[in-house]
Amino acid sequence: MARVEIELPHHRYEVIIEPGVLANLGGITASLARHARCALFGDANVLALHGAAARASLEAADYEVVVGEIAPGESNKTLASIERIYDVLLDARLERGSPLIALGGGVTGDMVGFAAATYLRGVPFVQCPTTLLAMVDSSVGGKTGVNVAQGKNLIGAFYQPVAVVADPWVLGSLPVRELRCGLAECIKHGVIRDESLFEFIEQNVGVFLSAAEDTASATAAADTMAELVRRNVEIKASVVIEDEKERGVRAHLNFGHTFAHAIEATAGYGEIQHGEAVALGMRAATRVAAELGICDASVQGRLSDLCEAGGLPTRIELASDDVLQGAMRHDKKVVGSRVRFVLPTRIGEVVLRDDVPPECITAGWAEIRS
Ligand SMILES: NC(=O)c1ccc[n+]([C@@H]2O[C@H](COP(=O)([O-])OP(=O)(O)OC[C@H]3O[C@@H](n4cnc5c(N)ncnc54)[C@H](O)[C@@H]3O)[C@@H](O)[C@H]2O)c1
Ligand SMILES: [Zn+2]
Repeated sequence: MARVEIELPHHRYEVIIEPGVLANLGGITASLARHARCALFGDANVLALHGAAARASLEAADYEVVVGEIAPGESNKTLASIERIYDVLLDARLERGSPLIALGGGVTGDMVGFAAATYLRGVPFVQCPTTLLAMVDSSVGGKTGVNVAQGKNLIGAFYQPVAVVADPWVLGSLPVRELRCGLAECIKHGVIRDESLFEFIEQNVGVFLSAAEDTASATAAADTMAELVRRNVEIKASVVIEDEKERGVRAHLNFGHTFAHAIEATAGYGEIQHGEAVALGMRAATRVAAELGICDASVQGRLSDLCEAGGLPTRIELASDDVLQGAMRHDKKVVGSRVRFVLPTRIGEVVLRDDVPPECITAGWAEIRS
C-alpha cells in the first residue's frame, strides 16, 4: 500500500493508494470522521458500478449511509446540482460531524467538495476518485467548485479532504477515452517535474491503456497503475504543499493548459475532452519553447511520440488565430493583460514566460492545426 502525506500549514491528510482499498473505505473514513451517519455521493454511472461496494464498506464500519445521486457529466457541474446535494443533506438532517464521501471522477469530487465546504460551514470530506484524472489530479490539492454560464470553475472554494482513497481496480470499468485523458495529466507532471516519471510512462503506456474497460486487465495492471498514481500524486502534492493557494509554482501545473483552455472554449461542446486538449496544448507550448530557443527538438519528438502512444490526438481542426488569441486572453489564469505561458526547457523542468512574441504563439497553433 502507498500513502502520500499532504502536509499543509493548517491541515494534514493522506492519499491512500492500493488495489482493493475500496473495501476499506468505511474503516478509513471511520478512523477520521466517526459519526452515526455519512452521505455517499456519486454520479449515476459510478453508483451503478461501484456504489454498492462503497456503501457496503461504509455500512460495515457502522455508518447509516445516505446515498445521493448526481447527474453525470461536465454539463451538470452546476449550482443547480449543488442545490440538489444540499437538499439531500438537509432532508436527511445530516449533522456537522457527518462525513461526505465523493465517489467518482473530478466532476463529482469538485461538487461534493464544494458542498462539504459550505454545508453547515464545513463538514468532513473524503475523496474516493474513480477516474485516473481524479486520482492523479483533481482529488489532490483542495480545489472544489462548479461551472457557471460565464465560465468553468469560476465559483468554488479551497477545501481539503480528510483523506483520499484511490483504488486502481475501479479503473477496470473506465472508458478508455477517459483513461487517456488522465494519462495526459500524468505526462504533464513528467514534463514539469520528473523525467524518470516520463520514462516510466513511456515504458508502460500499453499496460496503462489495457487497464480500461476490462476488469481482469485492470487487476493485472493494478500494481503498475498504483505506482503511476503514487508518483503523480507525489508531484501534485509537492507543488500544492509549496503553493496551496496558487500564488506561484502551482502555475506550473498549467503546462499545456493555456492553449488547452482556448481549444476547449472554441471547439463545439462535447467535441473534445479536457485531457485531449491538454495533450495538444502541451505540444503547442513545447513548439513555442523551441521557437524561443529554450528547449531542443528532442523534447518535441518525445512528447509527440508519447501522446501518440497514449492514443491522444496530435492535431485538430482549429479556429482562426484571432479567435484563439481572443479565447486565450479570456482565460481566468491570465495575469493583467499578458498571457503567461508555462514552457519546458527539458523533460522535467519548465519556466514561466509572459513575453512570448505573437509569431511564436502562431507557430504553436500551427504545430497542432490539422
Ligand atoms: N479540483 C481540481 O484541482 C481539478 C483538477 C483537474 C480537473 N478538475 C475537474 O475534473 C473534472 C473532470 O474530471 P473527470 O475527467 O474525472 O470527469 P467525470 O467526473 O465527468 O468522469 C468522466 C466520466 O467517467 C465516468 N466514470 C467515472 N469513474 C468511472 C469508472 N470507474 N468506471 C466507469 N465510468 C466512470 C463518469 O460517470 C463520467 O461519465 C472537470 O470538471 C475538471 O474541471 C478539477
Ligand atoms: Zn487539466
